[in-house]
Amino acid sequence: MRFAGLLSVLAGLIWPIQAAALAWAIAGWIAGDMGRTPWAAAIFVAGGFLRAFCDHRAGQILFDAADQTISHQRAALITREARARAPLGSAEIAALIVQKLPLLQPWITRYSIAMIKVAVLPLVLLLISFWFSWIVGLVLLVAGPLIPVFMILIGMAAEQASRRQMDEIGSMNAMVMDRLSAMLDIRLLGAADKALADFSDRAEALRIKTMAVLRIAFLSSTVLELFSAIGVAMVAVFVGFTLLGEITFGSWSAPLSLGEGLFLLLIAPDFFQPFRELAAAWHDRAAGLSVLAELDALDGAERAPFLGEARAARPLDGPLTLSLAGVVAALPGRRVTLPDFSLKRGQSLALIGESGAGKSTGLAALAGLVPLADGQITVCGHRLDHETADAWRARIALVPQRPHFPDQPLYAWLDPDKRHTDPWPALKRAEVDQVVLRLPYGLRTRLGETGGGVSGGEARRLMIARAILSGRELILADEPTADLDPDTAAMIIRALMHLKENGHSVIVATHDPDLAALMDRRVEVGQ
Ligand SMILES: Nc1ncnc2c1ncn2[C@@H]1O[C@H](COP(=O)(O)OP(=O)(O)OP(=O)(O)O)[C@@H](O)[C@H]1O
Ligand SMILES: [Mg+2]
Repeated sequence: MRFAGLLSVLAGLIWPIQAAALAWAIAGWIAGDMGRTPWAAAIFVAGGFLRAFCDHRAGQILFDAADQTISHQRAALITREARARAPLGSAEIAALIVQKLPLLQPWITRYSIAMIKVAVLPLVLLLISFWFSWIVGLVLLVAGPLIPVFMILIGMAAEQASRRQMDEIGSMNAMVMDRLSAMLDIRLLGAADKALADFSDRAEALRIKTMAVLRIAFLSSTVLELFSAIGVAMVAVFVGFTLLGEITFGSWSAPLSLGEGLFLLLIAPDFFQPFRELAAAWHDRAAGLSVLAELDALDGAERAPFLGEARAARPLDGPLTLSLAGVVAALPGRRVTLPDFSLKRGQSLALIGESGAGKSTGLAALAGLVPLADGQITVCGHRLDHETADAWRARIALVPQRPHFPDQPLYAWLDPDKRHTDPWPALKRAEVDQVVLRLPYGLRTRLGETGGGVSGGEARRLMIARAILSGRELILADEPTADLDPDTAAMIIRALMHLKENGHSVIVATHDPDLAALMDRRVEVGQ
């Protein structure tokens, strides 16, 4: 970054040399000395090439730096949010990753360089101007600093406007997600027109906020152009009248020569150039800062991380045992106290208790998916912590209440460990084989995120087939029979009992008295 700054300052410093060569050649023509022209032309062209090279190289370095920063941030965000979600909608996080992070690029590439140039180039050109004429120096000295003052004033407004625009982008995305997931209800309730009207309202709000940002951007460049135009015009008037002999003061001893006057005229616009670039980059800065503010807010958000790295690991050694002592699970903004109990290989247990007591939280804690505020979970003789969690999870299969199907073929989903066992016996065991046969592409069907194509009960039976196939010893099932008809519930109970008879340990969280009665023990949560 610093090297890129150096290169662009160097590129800026070449112009006075080119301008001097040009002025020298023109002064030569007037004096009838054409011999200077080839030299001046050579210097001018060489300077031009060098300048272009420096600018190009600086641009390359900056774009690479920006790309790296953005992809690094993006990867960090995705890994972190996948591990432990902040209390923010997925649409908003997607907006941040896809739409807002790239806004850091112009900020990194343009703004920081403009800042470095503003700190060096105007000062150098000012000193050169003062060297030839104190009046030109004075004009630049007065017109120059007015620009940053105005820009700071405008900048404050720009930042606020940008932040409002970012918020609107985020909530627009959240709304799209919300309406898409409720599409069926919207159709059934005949609310499509209302939803459409909501969208156009939101789009209009986003338009207004975007226009506000643009207005400020245009205003800041107008202010700048005004000051630089006045500054350059005053220098031109002074130089013109001096050369005509109308003005005899302003330069140090002798009046300005034609060459000196031309030189001053040529470098005056470049005195304002860095300010111009800064103004153009000013709203990049505003956008960049509001993205940073969002990233900071996300960094500071309270989140419940899970234990371990979520990597494939070798299963934990030793016979399967599990015990809880004084465990308090720490959910965001809530503590859930869990009862003490222990379990050995082949045993089964039902977590019962009223809704909201903490049964699901208990299962998640047993899988190391919820951090503990107090107490200890011991698994296979080890404390369940960051070191042991992945290895522990390699020995358990979780059957959640609402299965989530990733976008992959069923056979791949059924066999995450790539053991290539024949899935049909397990599917038959879970009484879901007929369902798979009915799917359009059988085992090659992709069910997708929402499990489209199978019912809730079928999805749960697929989940159990997967648990059977995995060969994992402990099955954690959350409300496996909830909201199912008695026949389907019976199928699921049969499959679970089969697992139990084959030496698996089973823990279910359930309201179903039939299922609870079939387990060896019942432990009440929330007592
Ligand atoms: N992600 C979360 N953040 C904050 N609080 C939560 C979260 N998940 C659950 N809770 C709270 O923790 C408590 C226990 O929830 P849990 O889902 O474990 O109950 P449950 O016994 O499984 O209930 P149900 O029988 O309805 O499934 C509830 O009061 C719930 O509001
Ligand atoms: Mg629950």
